[in-house]
Amino acid sequence: MKVTKFDVVKAILPKTNVLSKQNVKKFAPCNIALIKYWGKKCPELLLPVTSSLSISLPCGTNTEISAASEDEFFLSGKKLGIDDPFHVRLSQFLDLFRTPNCPYFRIDTVNDLPTSAGLATSASGFCALVLGLNELFDWNLSKKNLSILARLGSGSACRSVEKGFVEWHKGTSSDGLDSYAEKFPYTISDLQIGILPLSTEKKPIDSRLAMKYTQETSLLYQSWPKVVQDHLFNIKKAIVKNNFTNFGTILEHNSQTMHATMIASSPSILYWKKETVDAMHRVWQLRKNGCSVFFSMDAGPNLKLFFQKKDKEKCLSEFPELHVLNPTF
Ligand code: PMV
Repeated sequence: MKVTKFDVVKAILPKTNVLSKQNVKKFAPCNIALIKYWGKKCPELLLPVTSSLSISLPCGTNTEISAASEDEFFLSGKKLGIDDPFHVRLSQFLDLFRTPNCPYFRIDTVNDLPTSAGLATSASGFCALVLGLNELFDWNLSKKNLSILARLGSGSACRSVEKGFVEWHKGTSSDGLDSYAEKFPYTISDLQIGILPLSTEKKPIDSRLAMKYTQETSLLYQSWPKVVQDHLFNIKKAIVKNNFTNFGTILEHNSQTMHATMIASSPSILYWKKETVDAMHRVWQLRKNGCSVFFSMDAGPNLKLFFQKKDKEKCLSEFPELHVLNPTF
């Protein structure tokens, strides 16, 4: 029989599951994938085709949760209508955790970077929610189990349980109890991350559907698992050796390969805008001029730049609108 999200939750939560607090507040960081997750082996349990590696940012989502007499969700103080797609998604996720003494929730979510920065906040949001529920019900779960529960909300959310570099192990078991993220405990010296906002236009297709269509229609997808396996192995080696150039070269190559794979879908999936392509050329030109900077991009038109402190001023003079962040390890 097919394993459901409810089966997974049942296997993880303690037998006695009662509300222990009225209100909790939790933070979880945004994470940016360096080696991307693109494609599901099991859409019900959000099990990925490949492992992936991310870095957590110093910014993210603060979420306050309390028991309530009906579901009420607020995003930056604004109440979501019950037809809002995010309300529907959140409510379905919370169905996994409702109890007789806590049938409904009030959730207040605030993202601490301007939305114009174009960072995906569903990962930090679902992770902060799971961390909050863990405290509200006093589950006392391990980081591994918190990561598994966050994954059921949004795949990449499982990587927001840790700071610094984080590896999501794809796992092999059909219940997904071995598909979780854990810290990759190394650092790259003086690493800086720049978020480059390029377009605020609504994205043409969300990552869930885009992944599905890529898997179903892109002939290049068959190469993707092998590409990821090699990139993951090599970037971990570069991180352990603190080799920034190899690190940057691999992450940019991985991002471009993911986009090439989705561009080859039918119909083609293209998140790039003309500003995106222009910015890519400007990054390559900076690099030719001796500034060691690399880019990555996700399911949206904005770039994330990776460089070291010594090159910060050069990057800022080319891209004054860059939000520069220092990752905390
Ligand atoms: O977890 P989702 O459905 O938001 O998908 C994340 C997809 C990428 O951001 C493009 C890659 C990744 O690994 O985060």
